[in-house]
Amino acid sequence: MLKNKVAVITGASRGIGKAISFAMAEAGADVAILYNGNVVKAEEACKEAITYGVRAAAYQCNVADFNSCQNVCNLIINDFGGIDILVNNAGITKDKLLMQMSEEDFDSVIDTNLKGTFNMIRNTCKHFIKKRSGRIINISSVSGMMGNPGQANYAASKAGIIGLTKTVAKEFGARNITCNAIAPGFIETDMTGALPIEMLESAKAQIPMKRLGNSKDIASLAVFLASDMASYITGEVIKVDGGLYI
Ligand code: NAI
Repeated sequence: MLKNKVAVITGASRGIGKAISFAMAEAGADVAILYNGNVVKAEEACKEAITYGVRAAAYQCNVADFNSCQNVCNLIINDFGGIDILVNNAGITKDKLLMQMSEEDFDSVIDTNLKGTFNMIRNTCKHFIKKRSGRIINISSVSGMMGNPGQANYAASKAGIIGLTKTVAKEFGARNITCNAIAPGFIETDMTGALPIEMLESAKAQIPMKRLGNSKDIASLAVFLASDMASYITGEVIKVDGGLYI
């Protein structure tokens, strides 16, 4: 489905990003696995991606740093011969009620989640425009659609990603570049693993499907959005949340 395509996935050494990388590789895409801190895990993920018969390479990239994104995007274009699919997955949480939230915690979540997404799009868009094709998939969150106590910084960053997604879809639609967002609900990863058990139980109770989602649930949608089957879908925000936000 994605043969001869090159996919770049940020924050891809674990969790949802890793699952997206493997699903893209399984669909035939070469993958650039971007990681921030854990080179060992990133190299392991590359080895596993290669078992699908595609090319894979790991690149260090702090998405909050514009120059880091610029250097990595140029390097990947040089190494792989181009980029077809960009998945902005890297993200962090620094949860606290607004009354206790520090300015630093607000800024760092916005810098990674929202500005990081901008940084990557800004450093690939010229390439996509030149090719007159490109697929951008941004990982938002239902938090950004519903709001969530304790997540003012995170919800704002994820809502910002939705505005960014729709604007990019409008600015680049005529160049055959699509931009969509995926809004996961509660997905089993290290991020949700850090939450108190009572919070997860109360989340499950609110989810019509009565369970958390799996990273693969997000990965399969990302592959679909990157494929020819989704060539006329742009500016959409698609929830994958077991019905949490109906
Ligand atoms: P995770 O914490 O397991 O993975 C996040 C990845 O982003 C890690 O590999 C981390 O190293 C990377 N990262 C963090 N800061 C970075 C930076 N400055 N530069 C580059 N990479 C950086 O989290 P998970 O659950 O896999 O989340 C992936 C995405 O999905 C995030 O954007 C998250 O907000 C979003 N999401 C997750 C949900 C969940 O329930 N797990 C729900 C809704 C959205």
